[in-house]
Amino acid sequence: MVSWSLASRPQAGVFSTLAAATASYLSSQRSFPTVPLTLEYAGAVNIESRVPVEERLYVPAPGEESDVELMPAGDVTEGVVRVGATIRRPHQPQSFAVADYLDWLEDAGFVGAPRFLGRDAGGRDVLTFLQGHCAGAEPERWVQSERLLASVGRLTRSLHEASKGFVPDEHPFPPRPVRQDPAELVCHLDVTPQNIVVRRGVAVGLVDFDLAGPSFALKDAFNTAMHWVPLRDPADAWPGWEETDAFRRLRIFADAYGWTGEERRRVPAVGIDAVRLSYERMEHNARTLGGGWKRMWDDGVGGLIERRALWLDTRSDQLLSSLIDG
Ligand SMILES: Nc1ncnc2c1ncn2[C@@H]1O[C@H](COP(=O)(O)OP(=O)(O)O)[C@@H](O)[C@H]1O
Ligand SMILES: [Mg+2]
Repeated sequence: MVSWSLASRPQAGVFSTLAAATASYLSSQRSFPTVPLTLEYAGAVNIESRVPVEERLYVPAPGEESDVELMPAGDVTEGVVRVGATIRRPHQPQSFAVADYLDWLEDAGFVGAPRFLGRDAGGRDVLTFLQGHCAGAEPERWVQSERLLASVGRLTRSLHEASKGFVPDEHPFPPRPVRQDPAELVCHLDVTPQNIVVRRGVAVGLVDFDLAGPSFALKDAFNTAMHWVPLRDPADAWPGWEETDAFRRLRIFADAYGWTGEERRRVPAVGIDAVRLSYERMEHNARTLGGGWKRMWDDGVGGLIERRALWLDTRSDQLLSSLIDG
């Protein structure tokens, strides 16, 4: 068993309005209705017959190799392709840790994640292809649907419920740059519009578990809201998203995910800390790993994150009241 250490607490920083705003809500003890959780069960998995992830070799289905499609490029991973009913991705240092996590999710009855089928003859990771649509790099108008937003909240919650109890002891996740998150549970940590599979207008699947690892549910949920509301300076709005109401959308997400009153009160502080840490990690990755990380940095992602932090900090009162009032 791996013993997880608690990361050091975030330092107090320049985001000064936050503490005052949080304090003004701390006395409020309103409770929020419990969200009924619906985990779809996939049926029994024959765990006994499962080959350990590092020995799992994928044997292609007949004719499959001639049905190849290049997937829309994400930010980091190059060469993601669909081959028949599978996705092939380059093997990475975290691949086996992710594969164990995907096995765990399958055993927990969570059907919203790909399954790890093994490695192909070329050494690539092979995962099940989840049928549906993902958003493009600049999310299209259909991605604004509030019904979709709520379903993303529910799916993220289901993931967290299914993740409970998973300890990555066989294949630990590589440590994060800069500092570790408090390790409450393994979660996705990159639930962007491009990493959610949508069918008939609702979120049915999560892909791209490259950033998965030990963290805490509130952070993963905040991160998901940040990408989906989205929480960013309106100056950085995607085309066609200029008129969306971030506060209304945050509340929809919060209610669908089922944040408690106590969690809602922690959101601004957790959010600011997450955004500041993401700045430091992006900068670190751009400097040490290069590739897609450097490309994003050179394209100005650092400035976008700084504007987001400032926007969040100066609106912490409004964020709290949108989450709590009414
Ligand atoms: N298992 C999957 N099922 C369906 N589509 C997938 C799957 N994995 C990836 N994709 C598609 O390929 C795109 C890029 O793959 P992804 O794993 O997200 O790579 P990146 O790390 O570059 O973001 C995704 O945005 C999604 O559209
Ligand atoms: Mg992706």
